[in-house]
Amino acid sequence: MSVKRILVVGSANIDFLMTTPYVPSEGETVISEGAYTFVPGGKGANTAVAAARLGAEAVFCARVGDDAYGDRLINIYRENGIDLRYIKTDRLEQTGLSVVMLEKGGANRIIVYPGANRRINDNDIENAFYCYPDAVITQFEIGEAAVIQTARVANTEGVPLIIDAGPARRDFPLAKLEQVEILSPNENETEILTGIRPTTLDDCLRASMALMNAVDIKYVVLKLGARGCYIYDGKYCDIISPYDVQPVDTTAAGDAFTAALTHEYLRTGDIITAARFANAVGALTVTKVGAISSLPTRKEVEQFIIDSIS
Ligand code: RIB
Repeated sequence: MSVKRILVVGSANIDFLMTTPYVPSEGETVISEGAYTFVPGGKGANTAVAAARLGAEAVFCARVGDDAYGDRLINIYRENGIDLRYIKTDRLEQTGLSVVMLEKGGANRIIVYPGANRRINDNDIENAFYCYPDAVITQFEIGEAAVIQTARVANTEGVPLIIDAGPARRDFPLAKLEQVEILSPNENETEILTGIRPTTLDDCLRASMALMNAVDIKYVVLKLGARGCYIYDGKYCDIISPYDVQPVDTTAAGDAFTAALTHEYLRTGDIITAARFANAVGALTVTKVGAISSLPTRKEVEQFIIDSIS
């Protein structure tokens, strides 16, 4: 089977990661008992590296700042075999930075300073499509215009468009995406985009239908965390059960899920098979701390699936 080329148009961040016993409330100071680290992250970068580790040819269209973090991130992408031709070093803005507060049990809260990410422009995106991708993935962590331009070029060129709806914005003009192959929000993003929390099966269906009413989508895939994922194709729905793991850090699990879903969908043409595999990738990702540092290789995922059956 030929290697699939996935273009990711997305964010590159350095993550300032700190553990906390709980998230402070207003006016409160909490003492962290863990260490702090600066680790590579960003929804776009996590997705590109996850795709590469799973066997895709990953092409990353991004911007980093002209600073030490930018250099460090590019080196990490190089080590992971990412095609770097469409990554620009921006002279006006700093590298994107995320503050990740990691609670016991693996839940996180994130604040992002987008920096150079918001300067990805129409030309950057048009040029990147010269890599002739089999699919393009983007998220909402870059500027709205860049997401819409990615959709426009993808639709003009006939490249399947996969949207990971993180971080969701209530006012995002979904209709401007025109045609989406897969739209995959998590629970919070689903609620922000539709006003419906996907708690029950009925809620999942109503939310998926609301998304399909807003824009032409082939598959809605709701990421439901520890409850697996929900797939809707406009007619049928399916719940794909989760893998049972002990989470230590959920950061990047959604990004890894979307990369895996896209890659397996391209390889097999079957969304259910792809979602099962993506659930395994998401599950493995939450068992390690950090974003890029927690992304599994294809071999690790295959072994994990075998171990889970036996
Ligand atoms: O999805 C996880 C990512 O969100 C983190 O790596 C952080 O950079 C934020 O962008």
